[in-house]
Amino acid sequence: MNTFNFQISKELPADQIEAGRKLFTSETSFLKGVVAMNGLPTANRPEVCFAGRSNVGKSSLINGITGRKSLARTSNTPGRTQEINFFSISDKLYVVDLPGYGYAEAPLPIVEKWQSLLRAYLSGRPTLRRVFVLIDSRHGIKKVDQDIFDLLDKSAVTFQIVLTKIDKIKVEDIKILIERISQDLSKHPAAFPEILLTSSNSGEGIKELRAIITNF
Ligand code: GTP
Ligand code: MG
Repeated sequence: MNTFNFQISKELPADQIEAGRKLFTSETSFLKGVVAMNGLPTANRPEVCFAGRSNVGKSSLINGITGRKSLARTSNTPGRTQEINFFSISDKLYVVDLPGYGYAEAPLPIVEKWQSLLRAYLSGRPTLRRVFVLIDSRHGIKKVDQDIFDLLDKSAVTFQIVLTKIDKIKVEDIKILIERISQDLSKHPAAFPEILLTSSNSGEGIKELRAIITNF
């Protein structure tokens, strides 16, 4: 455990891992893309969402956990996901892919429209059980991430940091990165005290993420 009590997610029990595997190998489907708050599906089941800067790997991770290569559209160009995309997992829960915040290759008025929708969604969805905030392990936490943390603190929605593209950084740099992130998170009451390390390329952290989601 480090000084700030934030730690890398522990190994989960085998039965929880198995429950996660089962849930995500059952029926998963794209439900709808939403462009305005009044288009959200009825809030009648638990929901988790993937937030993060443009290009951090949100859609790739959703493909990773569902085991479906192109369920969510991914791209090299920041700003690929332009709607709030709802995926239904076994009719039991929603997994939600969000447009990225921060830099995106799209006209400013359009980006501003996504940003206000994103903020409205993150602060006003009663069934939202956890926000996974994805951070690119090569870049760490930026000002735009801090703004989202502040918003989630205010709306009292628990968020968990998921480091992405862990295949791209050296093992010895991970410890330094975690220390730095822990320091930032210690200021945020809504932060969940475990950080998950993932790679959609190598598959690291995928079964753990499934297992975590199964608990909702
Ligand atoms: P927006 O929808 O634009 O906000 O992006 P996003 O966060 O959904 O990112 P997306 O999943 O589209 O991935 C962006 C780029 O990162 C793509 O070129 C992916 O192939 C790449 N990528 C995603 N995950 C990983 C990973 O774990 N490792 C590596 N090396 N590349 C990744
Ligand atoms: Mg995307």
